[in-house]
Amino acid sequence: MLNVGVMVSGGGTNLQAVIDAIESGAITNAKIRAVISNNPGAYALERAKKHGIEAVCVSPKSFKSREEFHGALLEKVDSYELDLIVLAGFLVTIPGEMIRKYQNQIINIHPSLIPSFCGVGYYGLKVHEAALRRGVKLTGATVHFVDEGVDSGPIILQKAVEVLPGDTPEVLQRRVMEEAEWKILPKAIDMIANGELEPEFRKENIE
Ligand code: GRF
Repeated sequence: MLNVGVMVSGGGTNLQAVIDAIESGAITNAKIRAVISNNPGAYALERAKKHGIEAVCVSPKSFKSREEFHGALLEKVDSYELDLIVLAGFLVTIPGEMIRKYQNQIINIHPSLIPSFCGVGYYGLKVHEAALRRGVKLTGATVHFVDEGVDSGPIILQKAVEVLPGDTPEVLQRRVMEEAEWKILPKAIDMIANGELEPEFRKENIE
């Protein structure tokens, strides 16, 4: 059974998709051990509690320095003995120490087809604003492993979504979530939980 931790900052619709997929049996061999937020007001924490999942907040505001916050975050994550950490709209940069410790055990959902509209500064609505500005006709979402770069780790799954005439960033964001993010994030977790990743992603093949 894959012991999963989900890290969130906001509304948690991707978290909800994962919870629903576990409850419906679309994800097997995985359970959510805890949901961790940097933001005490994140609605994602309420979603977790409603489903009997441990929900905790580690806020940077409670610490004197970034280093102390990173230390506390890592300590909290370690305490759950997680096999997989899912970044589902987690807006805090993951400390390098944590990335090295959990190499190939941290995945992220990004709301574009990487390598388009990703990297520093591309988060939330900004991604969709940039896609509309460029006039792309297809966008989508990507699930990838997290390495020490920004949105630069190995890609696990992608799904394309059409951009339609008259789209606003908000409308496009919603379509990308509904048609891509909420599908490929649960799918990637199920694949990892069931050992279905291609050999190049398997932990034993990565030094
Ligand atoms: C999603 O668009 C995700 O791709 C991005 O942050 C957003 C989180 O939304 N990384 P939610 O909190 O899951 O509703």
